[in-house]
Amino acid sequence: MSQKEKASKIRRNAKLDTPTSLGAEAKQDISGALNALLADFFALYLKTKNFHWHVSGPHFRDYHLLLDEQGDQLFATTDVIAERVRKIGGTTLHSIGHIARLQRVSDNDADYVTPLDMLAELREDNARLADRMRETHSMCDEHGDVATASLLEGWIDEAERRTWFLFEATRATEPGGRS
Ligand SMILES: [Fe+2]
Repeated sequence: MSQKEKASKIRRNAKLDTPTSLGAEAKQDISGALNALLADFFALYLKTKNFHWHVSGPHFRDYHLLLDEQGDQLFATTDVIAERVRKIGGTTLHSIGHIARLQRVSDNDADYVTPLDMLAELREDNARLADRMRETHSMCDEHGDVATASLLEGWIDEAERRTWFLFEATRATEPGGRS
């Protein structure tokens, strides 16, 4: 990159450099972790909607509605995560391609997935998402970013609620279960 290009990149980045008293290292670490989480939220949102659209069988109505509710909750969080990144002076996701490069939640493009497998897969995805948010919370604590830590606490609770509902719904369909 030429000197001129470098200077113009610095000028462009400066326009997006929201003032914050968190240090440069905190901004970089927390933005990076939040953007990866944001990609996970989008990937899990779409997988949850995918299963909402394709679920079938005797528990259709219950599962269809449960997954719709969970999808709405995941989607509602995405904007708050992205804006938190901007508040601390970072830049966030730009595209579906950007999500695909960062997501750790794996897609499921199978033509048919049994309802039980759908719920079990989402249960694991939500549990892993909570684990990653706990790791990010520790990082925020190290940097003294109490606001991001506080947001994460709510999102962890929501992920644990989703996991709980998916766990109970999965149990109900096991042999000898309630239904
Ligand atoms: Fe729907």
